[in-house]
Amino acid sequence: MSGANTPDFVWVPRAAEIAREAGARLREFLAQGVETEYKGDVDLITVADRTVEKLIRTRIGEVWPDHGIYGEEGTREGLERQFRWYVDPLDGTTNFAHGVPQFCVSLGLEQRTFHSASDEDGKLVAAVIYDPMRDEIYCAEAGRGAFLNGKRIHVSRIPELAESLVATGFPSRKRHDNPNIHFYHEFTLRSHGVRRAGSAALDLAYVACGRFEAFWEFNLNPWDTAAGILLLEEAGGKVTDFSGGPFRLDCRVVLASNGLIHDELVGLFGEMFAGRGLSPIPTPQEYAARRAERARATVSSQFS
Ligand code: IPD
Ligand code: CA
Ligand code: CA
Repeated sequence: MSGANTPDFVWVPRAAEIAREAGARLREFLAQGVETEYKGDVDLITVADRTVEKLIRTRIGEVWPDHGIYGEEGTREGLERQFRWYVDPLDGTTNFAHGVPQFCVSLGLEQRTFHSASDEDGKLVAAVIYDPMRDEIYCAEAGRGAFLNGKRIHVSRIPELAESLVATGFPSRKRHDNPNIHFYHEFTLRSHGVRRAGSAALDLAYVACGRFEAFWEFNLNPWDTAAGILLLEEAGGKVTDFSGGPFRLDCRVVLASNGLIHDELVGLFGEMFAGRGLSPIPTPQEYAARRAERARATVSSQFS
């Protein structure tokens, strides 16, 4: 990636080339049409997932032969090494299989200390997420900021859920056990809406660049989240588990936001998990009164 304002990245330039090559293969597969197979009752896989993971694995091996790789489609190489890549060759397979142009390539790099156990989290140091249908490339390195197509990005400044657009996703395994539909319902009524776009990595990238204010999901894997989490943090956002505790790559649940609405979200999750009566959802008139109040406050702060 090159851009007038991008810093001297260490890993991003080569990783972005790999992601672009992988994304170009996904576009070709989409154009030619691919057969869909089933990994589970609605968990889909295509030849594109497997071929593109193989391509990424080869390219990472050529550029960084001493790095490990943990890929969704089965790659497990050098997991004890100091650096390891979390690879999702195609995040949004269900969209892809149905011809919906919302999917991406996600590459996240973790650096571990020499004493780390192979299942212990290290520090996320580089992230690349490429949306091949919009030609949007999101990149970050720890301490060097987050960028979309070479321009610096930042999370939004919206301060409350009632004025937020948020996103979630639903797992394709053990669907019947998942309570997310209740959260979806509650958050829909308390925000501008909940998008369920079908690519967790892009959902995180959208929070990072201010299109969404928050994203949550149950049951994600490190290849879904590694790149998006670093991107979000470098864009000034916040990520925790649902109780506001530290996020770990293997903790499965993700609550990501612009930071400003994070406490409000954690509070809502807490109330819902505890099964307590929540504060009533405001009526349309109450929402309008709150917006008018905010507009008055903004105007008066401009003139004071
Ligand atoms: C899926 C997508 C989806 C999320 C699922 C993931 P995949 O990844 O990120 O948005 O809701 O939980 O499994 O299978 O398309 O790589
Ligand atoms: Ca995924
Ligand atoms: Ca995938």
